[in-house]
Amino acid sequence: GGIITIDPGYKNTGSCESAITFLDGEKGILRYRGYSIEELAEKADFLEVAYLLIFGELPTKAQLDKFNNDIKEQSEVDEDMKKILDGFPKTAHPMGVLSSLTSALIAFNPSSVDVSSEEAMYKAIVKIMAKFPVLAAWTMRKIKGLPLDYGDDSLGYVENFHKMMLSKPNKGYEANQIVYDALDKLLILHADHEQNCSTSTVRIVGSSHAGLFASLSAGISALWGPLHGGANQAVIEMLEAIKADGGDTAKYIAKAKDKNDPFRLMGFGHRVYKNFDPRAKIIKTAAEEVLGDLGIEDPVLDIAKGLADVALNDEYFVSRKLYPNVDFYSGIIYRALGIPTEMFTVMFAVGRLPGWIAQWREMRLRKEPIGRPRQIYIGENHRDFKPIDQR
Ligand code: CMC
Repeated sequence: GGIITIDPGYKNTGSCESAITFLDGEKGILRYRGYSIEELAEKADFLEVAYLLIFGELPTKAQLDKFNNDIKEQSEVDEDMKKILDGFPKTAHPMGVLSSLTSALIAFNPSSVDVSSEEAMYKAIVKIMAKFPVLAAWTMRKIKGLPLDYGDDSLGYVENFHKMMLSKPNKGYEANQIVYDALDKLLILHADHEQNCSTSTVRIVGSSHAGLFASLSAGISALWGPLHGGANQAVIEMLEAIKADGGDTAKYIAKAKDKNDPFRLMGFGHRVYKNFDPRAKIIKTAAEEVLGDLGIEDPVLDIAKGLADVALNDEYFVSRKLYPNVDFYSGIIYRALGIPTEMFTVMFAVGRLPGWIAQWREMRLRKEPIGRPRQIYIGENHRDFKPIDQR
């Protein structure tokens, strides 16, 4: 082999060529398949964006109807999967449950590992697009101790997901366009973000020719961490803590700057965006609109805005180009929609699903080699084995 260079965290290493998502961190540009995120968030719906990411073009009406119908046909989850759900304690974190259930799904859908043709791949994709929101909704019913809701095929993808999560037993289900639109927008904004930690995980697991669902299950675990998707939960917990502490934002800014304090301002900073995160801009406006439309006043939004105002004018944050990221305001919307804090990262996962699928599909269709980074060894040189009584 040649000379090995190390690049911890792959800060400067490209792992693949990709035609899915374009991101310019200096200019704050994000595009899916060439379409700007601002336009998609405004004009498209989540299923259209999923189709665009996975198959490369915006669907025609006929293509979208077919995709939607194929998904609806697969929306049942095997009854035995519920026994697995039942086995978890109520206190289980929904991300662990979601990752486990996604992996368990393989046992009940063994044909999903067949990706020998594009048709076979399409079948696996439709299956997971159909069943994933069901599993995500189950994790919500679990923490709430509610019986499962089987959904309603006459509803759209996002509406049905919302119903399965939040319907109240014996009270029916009230549709609300403001809520759907907000949810749809959030899911679109989370749908792909090129080679982030979870997506790279999905690609690398998939590169061993493990199946799609196994790769996704690994991606969910990667997303769980507080430096990645778990930041949306961590942000609200942080804002709540600041509120409980009398709303003293300056104190927390000082903590975040203190190199002897492990505390970081959650929802701030990004590996690639060094000017602003275009998703955060859209979400901040959406948060204000949704709270206004629903007539909700959340003191945590004021704390968030106060924190951002201070940080954006502080030399520490300015010089390091640390700005609010996608996770900074998203939790405030989720809360307004009645979604509990532990569920926020699951919401992110449902949004990111089409991106993970698109990236996995691209990797397989391009017949990429197995992902297998190298290292520079810094351990002991050769030494002789010592029997246990001589150590
Ligand atoms: N609060 C305080 N200081 C920070 C923060 C923060 N949130 N983020 C970065 N820094 C400092 C860091 O200490 C370092 O300072 P110095 O140069 O003095 O050592 C400098 O800024 C560069 O940071 P880094 O850790 O080298 O940057 P990275 O690219 O490795 O990490 C990050 C990126 C997003 C993990 C990090 O900014 C972070 O931990 N942010 C908080 C968690 C978060 O909000 N994550 C969500 C990311 S966006 C969506 C997603 O992926 O889910």
